[in-house]
Amino acid sequence: MKNKKNHSNNNGISRREFASRSALGLAGLTVSSTLGVVAQNTKTNMSGTSTNTTNRMLGDLEVSGIGLGCMSMKSGSYNPPRDKSEMIPVIRGAVDLGVTFFDTAEVYGPFTDEELVGEALQPVRDQVVIASKFGFNLTSGSRSGRNSKPANIKTAVEGMLKRLRTDRIDLLYLHRVDPEVPVEDVAGTVKELIKEGKALHFGLSEVAPDTIRRAHAEQKVAAVQSEYSMIERVLENQVIDTCGELGIGFVPWGVVNRGFLGDKFNEYSRFSDDSRFSSVPYFTPEAIKAHMPVLTLVREWARKKDATPAQIALAWVMEQKPYIVPIPGTTKLHHMKENMGALNIQFTVQELQEFRTELEKIPLIGVRAPETALTDR
Ligand SMILES: NC(=O)c1ccc[n+]([C@@H]2O[C@H](COP(=O)([O-])OP(=O)(O)OC[C@H]3O[C@@H](n4cnc5c(N)ncnc54)[C@H](OP(=O)(O)O)[C@@H]3O)[C@@H](O)[C@H]2O)c1
Repeated sequence: MKNKKNHSNNNGISRREFASRSALGLAGLTVSSTLGVVAQNTKTNMSGTSTNTTNRMLGDLEVSGIGLGCMSMKSGSYNPPRDKSEMIPVIRGAVDLGVTFFDTAEVYGPFTDEELVGEALQPVRDQVVIASKFGFNLTSGSRSGRNSKPANIKTAVEGMLKRLRTDRIDLLYLHRVDPEVPVEDVAGTVKELIKEGKALHFGLSEVAPDTIRRAHAEQKVAAVQSEYSMIERVLENQVIDTCGELGIGFVPWGVVNRGFLGDKFNEYSRFSDDSRFSSVPYFTPEAIKAHMPVLTLVREWARKKDATPAQIALAWVMEQKPYIVPIPGTTKLHHMKENMGALNIQFTVQELQEFRTELEKIPLIGVRAPETALTDR
């Protein structure tokens, strides 16, 4: 990650400007808090009983209000790689809980997470939305640079269809922009794949507002996926608003801040050099200590709302805009169940303002500078 170390969220733009953008976002909420939300959805799950969930729209694509990020399951990004026999019940259990939105990518593993997701969801393929991502050179079997040349995208999609045991990718994302390929060419290639029926919707990941506009002009974008949480709020600088303006859904990852906002760590948590956590700027001893007041605030709201910290982290993000659909990653079905409980938590506009005021008082370490939101990552 290229995260610059800075000690507040408003490096590069004035505090007043940043605060007024936040206030504008909140003002938008009062008018739009029910828009984009689809009414209660009753469906039959794998064990034949009924579950209810509140769906949301990503452009024209309807998904459960919370999805499941499958990245760390088989590839073991934030945990040791888990066995397929342990993870299939988590994915199928999520379906039973009403989750219809599953996120993977060819680079996770590479390939092994898609294989897992494909096998787990095969019995319910027509009831779920599968999202996957292309954009890297994986011809040697491991990641070697970015590659979004049309031929590579088409090869990637053929592989995805086999691994995911399906004839279409519901949401096909560009994972990272390839500086050598104009995004219009990427969008044009996805447009062809959509015409062929191999992809149904187009998504972008970690992109600047201008890239979103250029891609969307060539092929309608359904969703933009990027990191966003109470701790990493840089995308409040134009990206999330651009999605709203263009009718594009926003899919945040890292919403529970890799478990930190789920109360998984404490101020003394330390990570070995070979752990993925050690490369994340929020997990230095200094940053963990600095961010404990955020966790304290989250715990306070959890008490007020009779909820858990992870539920508050998810509900807070969802309350920012009605077109936001988080995809928390988990290897544990009880965490998935807990996370789905966030769908039942609401904040009033006044509560959100109070929350925001307290949050903005806390200096953060390792977060991105606002201007970095205006360039592709
Ligand atoms: N587009 C991109 O570039 C990009 C980048 C990163 C990730 N993603 C996608 O986004 C998904 C989520 O991102 P992420 O995994 O990086 O971040 P995340 O969702 O913030 O964090 C996942 C971590 O949080 C823990 N967790 C989840 N629910 C919890 C709960 N209720 N209580 C306590 N801990 C909890 C999980 O541990 P347990 O396993 O113990 O529950 C896991 O280690 C990924 O799976 C992937 O699909 C996309």
